[in-house]
Amino acid sequence: MARRSIKSYVKREGRLTKSQSSALDNYWVKYGVNYSPTALNLESIFGRRAPIILDIGVGAGESTINHALIHPENNYLAIEVHRPGLGRLLNKIESLSLNNIKIINHDVIDILEKQIPNRSLNQIFIFFPDPWPKKKHHKRRLINSDIFMLMKDKLNLHGRLHIATDCLNYAEHINELLNCNLEIINLAGKDNFSPRPVWRTETRYEHRGIKLSNKVYDFCCGLS
Ligand SMILES: C[S@@+](CC[C@H](N)C(=O)[O-])C[C@H]1O[C@@H](n2cnc3c(N)ncnc32)[C@H](O)[C@@H]1O
Repeated sequence: MARRSIKSYVKREGRLTKSQSSALDNYWVKYGVNYSPTALNLESIFGRRAPIILDIGVGAGESTINHALIHPENNYLAIEVHRPGLGRLLNKIESLSLNNIKIINHDVIDILEKQIPNRSLNQIFIFFPDPWPKKKHHKRRLINSDIFMLMKDKLNLHGRLHIATDCLNYAEHINELLNCNLEIINLAGKDNFSPRPVWRTETRYEHRGIKLSNKVYDFCCGLS
C-alpha cells in the first residue's frame, strides 16, 4: 500500500521536562521497541504468548496503564508519535513495575503496514483520535478507509476494534466508513453507537471535552 504523505499529527514536540527526558533516557531500553520496517515477533518482545491489544495514539497512556493493570493477562502495544507523553507513560510503567506494556514511538500507519503481523491482534483501541474539526483538515484524520483496510488484516478472527470520539462529525464519518466496509462491522448495528464500555478510562482529554459538554461516541467493531 502506498505510504500516506498527509500525516494525522503535527510534530509539536516543544521541550521535554527533565523527568520526561530522563524517563526516555533510562527506561526506553526496558519498555521501548524501536521502529524498523520489518515484522515484529510479538511473543519475543513481550517474552510470553498472550492476547495483544494495540492502543493507538495513547497520549500519556492513562488508559493503557489502567487497562494493563486490570488485565495482567494481556500484552499492550502502545503507539504514540509525541515524546513528552511517552516520557510520562514510561515513568508510570516503571513506578508500577508493569511488564505487559511495550511502546513504539512512530506513525501507526507504518507500524501497521510493516511491523504488525496479520491476524495477530485481539483488540485495537483508538480513543479520541485528533478530531481535525475544520473541513480543510479532514484529510488529516487518522481514521479513513486506508487504516480500516490495514486493521481488518491485523485483527484476529474474533478481534475487536474500539473507537471513541467526542467529535460528532468524525463519528458520522466513522459510521459512513463502517457502512461502506463489508469486512469490519459495527457490532451495535447499522448507524448505531455502542454504549460506553465500562472499562474505558476517562482520560484528561476526554474529561476536558465532557466539561465543555461534548458528547462521546463509542464504536465496537468486529470482523464480518
Ligand atoms: C487527542 S490525543 C488522545 C490521547 C489518548 N488516546 C486519550 O484518549 O487521551 C490523540 C493522540 O494521537 C496521537 N497520534 C496522532 N496521529 C498518530 C499516528 N499516525 N500515529 C501515532 N500516534 C498518533 C497524537 O500525537 C495524540 O497524542
